[in-house]
Amino acid sequence: MSRPKIGVIGSGDVGKRLAGAFAKLGHPVMLGTREPSREDVQAWLKEAGHGARAGTNAEAARFGDIIVLATDWSGTENALRLAGAPNLQGKVLLDVTNPLSYRDGAPPLLAVSGEDSGAERVQRWAPGAKVVKSLNVVNNAQMADPKAFGNPTMFVAGDEGAKKVVEGLLRELGWDDVIDLGGLEGARMLEAMALVWIVHGFRTGKWTHALKMLPAR
Ligand SMILES: NC(=O)c1ccc[n+]([C@@H]2O[C@H](COP(=O)([O-])OP(=O)(O)OC[C@H]3O[C@@H](n4cnc5c(N)ncnc54)[C@H](OP(=O)(O)O)[C@@H]3O)[C@@H](O)[C@H]2O)c1
Repeated sequence: MSRPKIGVIGSGDVGKRLAGAFAKLGHPVMLGTREPSREDVQAWLKEAGHGARAGTNAEAARFGDIIVLATDWSGTENALRLAGAPNLQGKVLLDVTNPLSYRDGAPPLLAVSGEDSGAERVQRWAPGAKVVKSLNVVNNAQMADPKAFGNPTMFVAGDEGAKKVVEGLLRELGWDDVIDLGGLEGARMLEAMALVWIVHGFRTGKWTHALKMLPAR
């Protein structure tokens, strides 16, 4: 059975990591970027193999049955605009972004908080997509190889049907322990949780930690 096609928007560490992992798992993959001919993108293509390709954000969004959003927060609205609303219509959109506001030498703060979240903004910017927040509380190296870091927990929040699709992708990546935080407003908690992960990284200088929810006794 052929696996769903995945279009990734954003070619940073996260975009390349997830695009490479999904290609290796047998998904047809297109990495979307503002500059498909850029040297690092071309180098990634050679390294990734498995038929992975690169294109513009619009091409990747059109290509994917499932979309992965992996952009710097400051460029997220623009990247979605470039991807094009019709290309996102009706598609599951896995939002890995964190809406961070950077400060010199100190851990970032959230640029969106309270009764809103980055994921809910993404949903407003891409109203036809079925947005699910996940994978935002680990380092990109863990996203595709969680077992190498123990058996951490991953959380999902968003559209019911779309969450099932994302949970399937998470299991393919090796996530056995997946916890459902409900609707997309759960992203408010998940994005705040990312700060816990980031502050610990700042304080220890290490970035290989992960979060675990222990079962009730
Ligand atoms: N790094 C991690 O391990 C990690 C872990 C968890 C969550 N996250 C979150 O995941 C997201 C991606 O992380 P990353 O480290 O891969 O980020 P990044 O390298 O800082 O940025 C990712 C991509 O965003 C795109 N971008 C930046 N400005 C843009 C603009 N004005 N318009 C359109 N696109 C723009 C660029 O893609 P193109 O140049 O290809 O267009 C860039 O490669 C972030 O929101 C981050 O907070 C990261």
